Amino acid sequence: MILRLLSVFSLAVLGFATHAATTFTPQNPPEMVRLSNTNSPAHQAMKVFRRGANIGNYLEVPRGQDWGVKVSADEFQKIRAEGFDHVRVPCGWQHYAGPAPDYKLEEGIFARADFIVTNALAGGLAVLLNIHHFDKFTSDPTNQTEKFIALWRQIAAHYAAFPNTLAFELLNEPKDAAKTKVLNPIYARAIAEIRKTNPKRTIFVGPGQWNQVSELKNLVLPNDDDNLVVTVHCYDPFYFTHQGAPWAGGDTKVKGIQFPGPPAKPLVPDANLKLNKWVVDWIKRYNTEPASTNPSGPGAFAAKLQLAHDWGEHYGRPMHVGEFGALRSIDSSSRGNFYREFRKQAEGLGLGWTIWDWSAEFRYWDKQNNAPMAGMRDALFR
Ligand code: BGC
Repeated sequence: MILRLLSVFSLAVLGFATHAATTFTPQNPPEMVRLSNTNSPAHQAMKVFRRGANIGNYLEVPRGQDWGVKVSADEFQKIRAEGFDHVRVPCGWQHYAGPAPDYKLEEGIFARADFIVTNALAGGLAVLLNIHHFDKFTSDPTNQTEKFIALWRQIAAHYAAFPNTLAFELLNEPKDAAKTKVLNPIYARAIAEIRKTNPKRTIFVGPGQWNQVSELKNLVLPNDDDNLVVTVHCYDPFYFTHQGAPWAGGDTKVKGIQFPGPPAKPLVPDANLKLNKWVVDWIKRYNTEPASTNPSGPGAFAAKLQLAHDWGEHYGRPMHVGEFGALRSIDSSSRGNFYREFRKQAEGLGLGWTIWDWSAEFRYWDKQNNAPMAGMRDALFR
């Protein structure tokens, strides 16, 4: 209750006096029962997954590709010294699996993952290790289930003796055919498989549609497992956070969007960009609306974070935001405003968070200068 009051207060200070607190209406199927223990193993585990950084664009990169990120053993002390308590380690295990029925993982990928996991743990960080961008599975989950389970069987066996500050996350950003309802029984199988060798390991589970908060309503977790954390992603306001990102599609071509809007001088997009009507409308609102309702403002994610919080409270599951962030090419003062506001809201609601990312396109750490990117330390830790 106090947290709720505080968050309403901080929104009011930001000009959010008109933002009414949402009333949460549970919509999940009845199989999704509420757990009552607010000090479950998952809740205890979350004490070390409060403030994290994604080691992005590294182990998830397909074989033979290099996305420009290198990781050295001493890096994890820096991450810890900045104030982070955990790292999330995206990993593309599926690229290193042999044929059916064993789908045997190569020693080489374990060696690379071990390097990250052991150095991070030794540096005093908790670690969240996942399966990332498994597109063949998300396009055809039914026919790829055995591979998904076999990957987890091997990963779980390999890390069975590791400390409990290593957690697993079943799957990054399910999409396409991997709808939440399709995944529920597959997740249950993967969890049961992991439990054979890792009865005490914390497991993070995220809903479909890229781990969107709006998909939480379709999630069904095994009732008898109280060491599960639910993780969501949020990149809102998307036209701000992904402006100019070549992989994000035509709607993110407009650059120069600040946070929060409105800008001092209206932004006039290049006429040659041939923008969709909804983008033109968004920019119109961005240019004109006050910070309290501006689409490039704190309201772009407030209701989603609130919903994640309310859902977790209702179902008795601790919640985590596994990815949020804004491209490094964006002006540093807007980036700072954005990261500060997002993490403050998340913390106010008791949600753990992990920034995307440590040293890649959304970077926190500038390796050339051996220092955080401008404004980032202030935004996250002051
Ligand atoms: C992807 C990254 C991407 C980021 C932001 C992540 O889930 O793995 O490649 O940069 O989202 O779009």
